[in-house]
Amino acid sequence: MTDYLPYDENQELDNNTSDNHHFRDILEQSMSRRDLIAKTASGAAALALASSLTACSDDNENGNIGDDESNPNPPTDNNARPEKLSFSPVKKNLDDWVTVPEGYTATVLYAMGDSIHPIYSDWDDKNIPNGPSFQFRSGDCHDGMSYFGLSTKTGRYDENASEHGLLVMNHEYINQTFLHPQGPTKVDGRRPEDEVIREVNAHGVSIVHIKKNTETQAVEIVKSSPFNRRITASTVMDFSGPVTNSPLVRTAFSPNGRQTRGTHNNCGNGYTPWGTYLTAEENFIGYFQRSGTDQYADRSEAEKTALKRYGLGLDISYQTEKNADGTVKRDEKNSIVYVLDAQGQKVPERDDQDRIVYLDKSSRYAWETAQAGVESQDMYDRWSANVTKASASQDYRNAPNTFGWIVEIDPFDNSANPVKRTALGRFAHEDCRASRAIEGEQFAFYMGDDSRGEYIYKFVSDAKWDPKDINTGYRAGDKYMNKGKFYVAKFNADGTGQWIELAHGKNGLTAENAVYPFSSDADVLTFARLAGDAVGATKMDRPEWVAVNPENGEVYVTLTNNSNRGNSSAQPVDAANPRNYSDPEGGKGNVNGHIIRFKEENTASESFEWDIYLFGAEASMDANINLSGLNDNNDLSSPDGMWFDPRGVLWIQTDDGAYTDTTNCMMLAALPGQVGDGGPATTSNGQATIAGAKVTDENLRRFLTGPKECEITGVTMTPDYKAIFINVQHPGEDSKTFDAPTSNWPASQSDRSNKTARPRSATVVITRNDGGVIAG
Ligand code: FEO
Ligand code: CA
Ligand code: CA
Ligand code: CA
Repeated sequence: MTDYLPYDENQELDNNTSDNHHFRDILEQSMSRRDLIAKTASGAAALALASSLTACSDDNENGNIGDDESNPNPPTDNNARPEKLSFSPVKKNLDDWVTVPEGYTATVLYAMGDSIHPIYSDWDDKNIPNGPSFQFRSGDCHDGMSYFGLSTKTGRYDENASEHGLLVMNHEYINQTFLHPQGPTKVDGRRPEDEVIREVNAHGVSIVHIKKNTETQAVEIVKSSPFNRRITASTVMDFSGPVTNSPLVRTAFSPNGRQTRGTHNNCGNGYTPWGTYLTAEENFIGYFQRSGTDQYADRSEAEKTALKRYGLGLDISYQTEKNADGTVKRDEKNSIVYVLDAQGQKVPERDDQDRIVYLDKSSRYAWETAQAGVESQDMYDRWSANVTKASASQDYRNAPNTFGWIVEIDPFDNSANPVKRTALGRFAHEDCRASRAIEGEQFAFYMGDDSRGEYIYKFVSDAKWDPKDINTGYRAGDKYMNKGKFYVAKFNADGTGQWIELAHGKNGLTAENAVYPFSSDADVLTFARLAGDAVGATKMDRPEWVAVNPENGEVYVTLTNNSNRGNSSAQPVDAANPRNYSDPEGGKGNVNGHIIRFKEENTASESFEWDIYLFGAEASMDANINLSGLNDNNDLSSPDGMWFDPRGVLWIQTDDGAYTDTTNCMMLAALPGQVGDGGPATTSNGQATIAGAKVTDENLRRFLTGPKECEITGVTMTPDYKAIFINVQHPGEDSKTFDAPTSNWPASQSDRSNKTARPRSATVVITRNDGGVIAG
């Protein structure tokens, strides 16, 4: 069969049926940009451009690298958690710009296509730059983001530096309509190579050197900085931890399973106290094509089980309907082709070898269809996960296993490859948050798997924190993130919960397991979802971001929404996912999402106590749906991004479709209490749960709203709390064609009458007009 099933997000959402580098060294490294470019793939044309470069000077035009910081330490009271929120709450609205409280200003800093290298031109809607140039341009769909203070003395991480810093952010995916001159195209069934290179390069991570004026708080990008760097869906990465060298990650690119190329669909993030960035590979699976005939390739049943559990199975069976003329309607979700037999019964079509015919499964962007010109053909073939050669070391059948990991990036070191930390498991990683850095204590990293009915995980390091490891980059990562225990969460109805260890030979995770034959830790980690199934983990309402309260170490997880909750026999309501109700606009299940939180005795605890901090709802909903008592100043739907700043202010962001008839997505500030500050509650559907204390205007308040059709995601601050950064993702995402945009943001931020500009995802910096502390 040659039909391609269109990319379908349900493929990813529904799969649960059951030595310090001295600053001068870095500058010297940057003297030859050619070296840097040559290290990365998809840079062929960039290489050609760069070859005319002689050197990238270290005396940048602003003279701002070598400056001493005159006032590195903020006044001590900036560090105090405010007693109440006092900024003017932003009203719900449908405006096509970012709205912030009175006395604050929002400024667009870094939008899709913006150049981070002096030789590349500014973005121009009418002259879209070529694909390779995106190696030094902002990627698309900005997402998770962290600020790392930059010491101007050492060129390394300084957690107190607010004047210079590296802003590191994810580019989750792409909006093809506006990325290309006239949207995405195909020629004779193939994606043009330049478009594919642009798309590959528009994914990944940006590292951008920024400088903040100590008087005005204005922030600018230091365009000539040697730290500015892009990591893309083709950057070479190393594996580390238990899965390294495993047969599961061997590919033609790395026959011994030590490396892979790229990171993609980077959603939430995290950061380590030693000064590195963590990026989470979320909906990675849809980037791979799989042919229907691959079902008959030399693959074990275990391989097929794993492919299906991660969304690349060919045997998903849905009800097949008949057309008016009695023929069987081809259900696009159904990968089996049906025909009618002589008796008029639908039966699977069979090929000339009497095998059931499966439809090919296409990839999200069809990168595998590109024909080599600038790059090698291998750069495109790698997106097909078919058995095509005699062994896994010769083809890309295992390519999907090389994604779905937490990737550690040292923003201060562009000489080493980013590292995929396999000890933290493989799933649709949304976010990864480290527990508080306490000398002599083990680290926990908390993580969610964002699909309907998926799990919450944690990894606990064997090693105990030693502050001397600050600024030791990947060496510290090796110490704290390769050896430890990996767990999945089970929530009990009485407000307690367990962490169930996922390790080979424990909790039934053996070769005899009925779910999957686990024969090694590599099996357990690579197929963490199957291990979670096998031990009876709790299916959650799409675990998104995680935040750790700096005051008490309690852990918060956003559960964004779940249309299946209470509507699917596989996902009945339970105490931790208690709501099933209808939305005035037709939504059902857990329509508006909630935020669960838990406390542990210490990071290594195997038990916890939980409650639900916040229930999303429309203010006008019944009290047994609006269980947190939200009002017009703080009602929200579909919490997603979330971060505790170091003072203890919780920032909550939304990616919503249920309240967007009334308001665009938003960010709120919160001053939460603690686990147990509320009590028992009963939902509209009669489910008993444990709710946190109701909120008030003074401890939950809307800080910002975004432009049309956007998501607000990614949040970080300078350590003086005088600049906060957020990302606006996919404004105008409902636009049908490139020449009919439904949003004109970011141009509309400064020119509200603009009705023609292309919408672009972008980073926004928000400062106070009086130069004061944000939400202070
Ligand atoms: Fe990429 Fe789950 O949001
Ligand atoms: Ca998200
Ligand atoms: Ca609604
Ligand atoms: Ca989104």
